[in-house]
Amino acid sequence: MATGPSLDSLVSAADRALRALFAPTQSGRPVPSPGRQPPREAQKADTHLTAEEKRESAALMRVNHAGEVAAQALYHAQALFARSPDVREFMLQAAREESDHLAWCEARLAELGSQPSVLKPLWYAGSFGIGALAAVMGDRISLGFVAETERQVEGHLRGHLERLPEGDVRSRTIVEAMRHDEAGHGQQAQSAGAAPLPGPVRELMRQTARVMTHTAYRI
Ligand SMILES: [Fe+2]
Ligand SMILES: [Fe+2]
Repeated sequence: MATGPSLDSLVSAADRALRALFAPTQSGRPVPSPGRQPPREAQKADTHLTAEEKRESAALMRVNHAGEVAAQALYHAQALFARSPDVREFMLQAAREESDHLAWCEARLAELGSQPSVLKPLWYAGSFGIGALAAVMGDRISLGFVAETERQVEGHLRGHLERLPEGDVRSRTIVEAMRHDEAGHGQQAQSAGAAPLPGPVRELMRQTARVMTHTAYRI
């Protein structure tokens, strides 16, 4: 008979969820900074952005922050229901890198005088459910889900690099560093044995992401 996650791993998963939602985010890596410019200088550089540009940057960084909350939830759920220890460790390692992204977006939002999406718990809960569903279908499907998610996220971040104000070098540097990591996650999932996902599933993923990004842009 198949056994579910142990009590220990359930407790760890609950702990990770609470940290992702309520603990101050901590980055293992410093916020990527343009060139050698120290963060405080970069922050001052925001004075050259117009109010409208700052609003647009904040809205886009709020979408990215929501995406990173969702990424945390997906990886946490996929780690919880992974069958092999290797896949579980892969998911947890990726989640740790995503938590850097979360911290970077949060720091940038604060610099822009804005805040994360108020619907953060909803993004986490919804994504956790989706991640769990992908994971119970088996490790190869779960890895395929990672590869496809990261492919879509990378495309989405590329779109943001086009939409972010030209002068907002600081946000652009953060988004570019995230895009680099997401591509790495996708490639790692591929080489770990990702199964291709059916077209309708990929389309459903795109539509789900669209709801989240359009909502988080506003609130
Ligand atoms: Fe990320
Ligand atoms: Fe990622």
